[in-house]
Amino acid sequence: MRDFTFYSPTEIIFGKNAESRAGEVVKKYGGSRVLVIYGGQSAVKSGLIDRVEKSLGEAGLSVKKIGGVQPNPTLSFARKGVLEAITFQSDFILAVGGGSVIDTAKAVAIGAADPHTDIWTYWQGKAAVKRALPVGCILTISAAGSETSDSAVLTDDAHQDKRGINTPFNRPRFALMNPELTFTLSPHQIACGVTDILMHTLDRYFTPMQSNELTDALAEALMRTVLTYGPKAVQNPRDYQAQSEIMWAGSLSHNNLTGLGAEKEFAVHQLGHELSGRFGVTHGESLSAVWGAWALYVYEKDPARFARYATNVWRMNTITDIDTAARGGIEATVRFFASLGMPTNLRELLGRPLTEQELNELADKCSRGGKRTVSRLKPLAKPDLLRIYTAANR
Ligand code: NZQ
Ligand code: ZN
Repeated sequence: MRDFTFYSPTEIIFGKNAESRAGEVVKKYGGSRVLVIYGGQSAVKSGLIDRVEKSLGEAGLSVKKIGGVQPNPTLSFARKGVLEAITFQSDFILAVGGGSVIDTAKAVAIGAADPHTDIWTYWQGKAAVKRALPVGCILTISAAGSETSDSAVLTDDAHQDKRGINTPFNRPRFALMNPELTFTLSPHQIACGVTDILMHTLDRYFTPMQSNELTDALAEALMRTVLTYGPKAVQNPRDYQAQSEIMWAGSLSHNNLTGLGAEKEFAVHQLGHELSGRFGVTHGESLSAVWGAWALYVYEKDPARFARYATNVWRMNTITDIDTAARGGIEATVRFFASLGMPTNLRELLGRPLTEQELNELADKCSRGGKRTVSRLKPLAKPDLLRIYTAANR
């Protein structure tokens, strides 16, 4: 078995009315002056913010709220949040929303704990995070898995540069997860979330293979669960069981449980981040648009692994030829994304094919100007990344 460290300290409180315990748990983790961060309007419209504020008030906590986090959250908003947290002398950051809100909360927590360092310094890899205020979250969309993950993704809006950092300081203290809070999501937003959840395990599953049988089996069970319940949640956003399965899968898909320890270079995520950074597209869409092109480019490095995926996840039990099985699993996955209404190429993603210059720029940025390779299964240098973007550009 491959060596690994597994650290997943987030307390999960799962089920109906979980959010009503906000005051109690913030207090338990030492908060007294709470900065509540939320998104555009969904959490206000549903009355969730009022309920959370009430719970915090009843626990005797001081509260300041800042709303307006946009999907693909920006560095400029996070910087404003840092100033708010410092001015309010906040000792706890509570995120109410999805990945964008939670990642902003994580950035604010890091920035407020060390006011002398601009937060982008960490995202650029020029300094290591040494401290952060505690963060808790109330999840309203199953997708990014930020409620348990050690990562936070921001976009430098001045330079269209989307980057993530991983640090144990990013792990939230708790996540309150009530599947009913996701009932107000649009089917498309659920489909984007389902794609992202699947991708967090796919991006861990296709790594240079060593036998971690239990980890593989957990990953396969998680993916089968998402394939079963994802479409049900998309068809009926008020299906409690489907939303519950998806919500739990979202957290387990990105807390490293389904990884083999090689999760830091998510190839498809890296390809997708460039598309979101440049064109502002939804994270899940950026992934489904390139996954097929990526898979067809790399699968020959380990066709047996892709064939195992086809057998154990897609139950393609009758194919004996490894190459046919591998390609069958890839095709089934792309069809699955299409069945959810997700884009499976760049033309569907952006409404037009990209120019050669745009493709070049994406490959250049993704390889950090040709200075890094992405992925371990098949290390992808700038020319490889360009070929993948070009293959996706149908
Ligand atoms: O802003 P509001 O009005 O709340 O609307 C949001 C937003 O428009 C809406 N929404 C959320 N909950 C809702 C709701 N609408 C109705 N009812 C509800 N209950 O959904 C839209 C998307 O929200 P967002 O937070 O952007 O979604 P998601 O959770 O997919 O987060 C995406 C961000 O997370 C990053 C992505 O790159 C992207 O920036 N990721 C973060 C990761 C991490 N920190 O571990 C890992 C992921 O791979 C991902 O990169
Ligand atoms: Zn993701």
